[in-house]
Amino acid sequence: MLSIEDVHVSYATAGVLRGVELHVGAGETVSLLGRNGMGKTTLVRAVCGLTPPLLTQGRVKLDGEDITGWSSHRIARAGMGLVPQGRRVFGSLTVEENLKVVATAKDKGWTVKRVYDFFPRLADRSASLAGALSGGEQQMLAIGRALMTNPRMLVMDEPSEGLAPAVLDTIRDRLAELSSTGLSVLVAEQNVDLALDLGSRAAILGGDGTIAWAGTTDELRQRPEVLAQHLGVGV
Ligand SMILES: Nc1ncnc2c1ncn2[C@@H]1O[C@H](COP(=O)(O)OP(=O)(O)O)[C@@H](O)[C@H]1O
Ligand SMILES: [Mg+2]
Repeated sequence: MLSIEDVHVSYATAGVLRGVELHVGAGETVSLLGRNGMGKTTLVRAVCGLTPPLLTQGRVKLDGEDITGWSSHRIARAGMGLVPQGRRVFGSLTVEENLKVVATAKDKGWTVKRVYDFFPRLADRSASLAGALSGGEQQMLAIGRALMTNPRMLVMDEPSEGLAPAVLDTIRDRLAELSSTGLSVLVAEQNVDLALDLGSRAAILGGDGTIAWAGTTDELRQRPEVLAQHLGVGV
């Protein structure tokens, strides 16, 4: 569904990614791990056509179609849904307005009602300004907003960031359900537990701007030394 082939990405000041290879099959959830500053957000933004950064080399393909260099709007219309780091909801719009503003004309797929069924908490808060929501509620809204575009490929950047354990459990549960419905998902995470839980495969961004390790999450669970070396966790 998503192919990232030998992708190099730079900011004006410095190159960050130097030949990333990453593939997400149809219906598959892949977790992108890596310490803070390794380039997860840089890769997510480049794949979704957001600038900065600049993709300087390599190809990105969505379901076989080469989308390298496309604008973020065109990539979104082609079926890539993004849940950005930091949620980025429209704080001065209500929950319902946030959902409606991205709704596509199609009457199939995700509707406001379906998002409310999926996250009942958002139904309770439908008339509240998004800026007044808790972090967890904003994350639900950010996910709901991405779903409203009926993506074929959902890309999430640190959905767990700054969430209290109770609400993280809710988000984890909902994301696991999305994965199980056959949506293709790429999730960038620093929370190793969540990444191992959600993904069937994982890739770890290393300090040299390439994928330092890739394999199944089952395998990664058995490799504490890999987690220790690249993520500084465990052991
Ligand atoms: N807008 C920017 N301009 C210049 N450098 C940036 C910018 N955003 C991030 N970087 C740098 O790119 C590197 C990767 O950052 P980022 O992709 O945010 O990492 P991660 O998401 O894995 O924490 C870091 O060294 C960071 O300082
Ligand atoms: Mg990031």
